[in-house]
Amino acid sequence: MIIQENNKQIFTLQTRNTTYQMKADRNGVLLHTYYGPKIQEGDLSRLIRFADRGFSPNPDEAGRDRTYSLDTLPQEYSGSGAGDFRLASLELELADGSRVADLRYVGAEVKKGKYGLEGLPAFFASEDEAETLVLTLEDISAHVRVELLYGVLEEYDLITRAVRIVNTGDEPVRICRAASACLDFLSADLDFITFDGGHVKERGLNRAHLRPGVQSVGSIRGISSHQHNPFVMLCEPGAGEEHGTCYGLGLLYSGNFEAAVERDQFDNARATLGIHPFHFSWTLEPGKMFTTPEAALICSPNGFGPMSRQFHRAVRSHLLRDVWRDRRKPVLVNSWEAAYFHFDTPRLMELAREAAKLGVELFVLDDGWFGHRNDDFTSLGDWYPNEEKLPGGLSALSAEINGLGMEFGLWIEPEMVSEDSDLYRAHPDWVLNPPGRPFTRGRSQLVLDYTRPEVREYIFQTLQKVLDTANVSYLKWDMNRSLTQVWSAAIPAGRQGEVYHRYVLGVYDLLERFRAANPHTLIEGCSGGGGRFDLGMLYYTPQIWCSDNTDAIDRLSIQYGTSFAYPPSTMGAHVSAVPNEQTGRSVPLETRGVVALSGTFGYEMDLGKLSDREKDLVKEQIQAYRESYELIQQGDYYRLTAPTADGAPTCWMHVAPDQSSAILCVVSGQTHAGPPFRCVKLRGLDPARNYRVSGDEQAWPGDVLMQAGYPLPMLGEYQSLRLWLKAE
Ligand code: DGJ
Repeated sequence: MIIQENNKQIFTLQTRNTTYQMKADRNGVLLHTYYGPKIQEGDLSRLIRFADRGFSPNPDEAGRDRTYSLDTLPQEYSGSGAGDFRLASLELELADGSRVADLRYVGAEVKKGKYGLEGLPAFFASEDEAETLVLTLEDISAHVRVELLYGVLEEYDLITRAVRIVNTGDEPVRICRAASACLDFLSADLDFITFDGGHVKERGLNRAHLRPGVQSVGSIRGISSHQHNPFVMLCEPGAGEEHGTCYGLGLLYSGNFEAAVERDQFDNARATLGIHPFHFSWTLEPGKMFTTPEAALICSPNGFGPMSRQFHRAVRSHLLRDVWRDRRKPVLVNSWEAAYFHFDTPRLMELAREAAKLGVELFVLDDGWFGHRNDDFTSLGDWYPNEEKLPGGLSALSAEINGLGMEFGLWIEPEMVSEDSDLYRAHPDWVLNPPGRPFTRGRSQLVLDYTRPEVREYIFQTLQKVLDTANVSYLKWDMNRSLTQVWSAAIPAGRQGEVYHRYVLGVYDLLERFRAANPHTLIEGCSGGGGRFDLGMLYYTPQIWCSDNTDAIDRLSIQYGTSFAYPPSTMGAHVSAVPNEQTGRSVPLETRGVVALSGTFGYEMDLGKLSDREKDLVKEQIQAYRESYELIQQGDYYRLTAPTADGAPTCWMHVAPDQSSAILCVVSGQTHAGPPFRCVKLRGLDPARNYRVSGDEQAWPGDVLMQAGYPLPMLGEYQSLRLWLKAE
């Protein structure tokens, strides 16, 4: 609910469990007065204290009052160059070269429903489910209007934010920084939690208390990156899974981002989240508007678990748009780790036949089907089937696969081009690179200039032709390098700071076109695994390949970190062969299944190489997937224990929304002699009901399972359990 007290210029956003408040003060400065556990409305600006602080200057309106300074006030959207020396939300370069942004409140509007953002991903909701608040600010001197957009999805505790910047003058204005959200706190006694790593080790959780100054994570790779995720958290130092106030801040954006937090001289904190200012500038011609990506904020008064579950619910029902959201996704087998580039139709059919016999429903042909791509030095951009490998092309192959009763899926990497390709030979200027500058190659490939509509048009036409000839029900949209030498031949010298962002807009545009042209095709996002696992991509691709690391034990931490913001239904997770290609580790097939079953399930191996016992197990896993699909995809996710290096078991649960059933998953790490007896406390059950636990004769009361715990058997190294709990 949005409560607007016009006379006092107070704006309070009430969600199910939280309250967010702003107030335009006597000078029109939009103060941020509160965000946290739910409280009654009222003027919370009384929390703000005033003092004459040395070197904290006073705006003109303050007159002789030296206690009023932008440097100390908690603000809703901080300016720059006008006396607030903390993190800026907005930096402008005006036509006279001055770099000042000093905003004052001018008006507010409340609307039913949730605003949308043209060309950008955004949460959506019907008029009954959400409200929008638009607060309009203006620079005190330049002709710049700033609209702060707030979407309130009350049931989910979700507050979304985006910003529109409009040049209302008659001279161009340059935007040098425009955060999507700014969040001020009156206390910096907070921990900053980020999800970091690299290729094949994405989204490890890191937590540190705020220290003085700015701490930040971000990406300047053109993609949201494997290194840092555009989802971060702030929390009370004692906060854990089920206690303490915490805040999750996610950006719906798949390019350069920055998530920064500053602890200032008076122990206040400010967080900003938005497009990374590196190599960013945007020229706003008179009358034009710039829109930032959307930020999503959820505060939980009771720890990380409820916050994650609110994100999961909101993402599932108000971000994922695909028809596949509500349909069971087929169990897939992907050819990559089974065959890499070395296949032809008979080999693929051999893989597919084995998979079909075991109950696999979708065969995905990964990299290597086009041009003369027999290794990764060549052919990206030449999107026509290699008839030597695949006589009759994809229409013949997909028909044969369909003949086995399986659907057919295809890998593409549409943003890239190889120098050894017809496309590059015809259009060398279609890549991002300043003329005359040597290339920096990534996986020996170059990046197409997606700022250019003609490039996107060409890729759309050629790939759509392929899709039209074959019966493709699944697409894996890959992207395998960081951007460098970011320069477009189609953009004037003074506006090259727009290229990174225009590239992302181009990717979104093309994804939207493919979605529209192929509404029944399931698109899985991928960027060398999890290099672009973000809320922005999920708007276009309802699942994302979580990591190129398919080792079940490494996946525990990758999927654990990913789960803080993203639901299991979005995490691409497959069972692969052992010893694992990335780690050399051998983990039992049962355990590989337990881990992959907590995501979008599939196989990444030659199933024909398995023993009969293993094949039976695969059949059981596929059956388990079918039986638990609803629970995994729509249920509530509980992290019971975090993966640790000392080998203690990692435990998690999926619980049906009505608490009638649940699945407990346990994976043991390295074992040591003399292991302790372990009990794991379950969560999310109905304390008043009794639960039958699979394999256990006696029923267990829900309160016992949650308060005293469930005794775990002694598990050997990397062994696992996956137990159903069913309420009597
Ligand atoms: C990177 C992906 O993450 C892999 O799964 C695979 O599709 C390869 N690219 C193919 O080149």
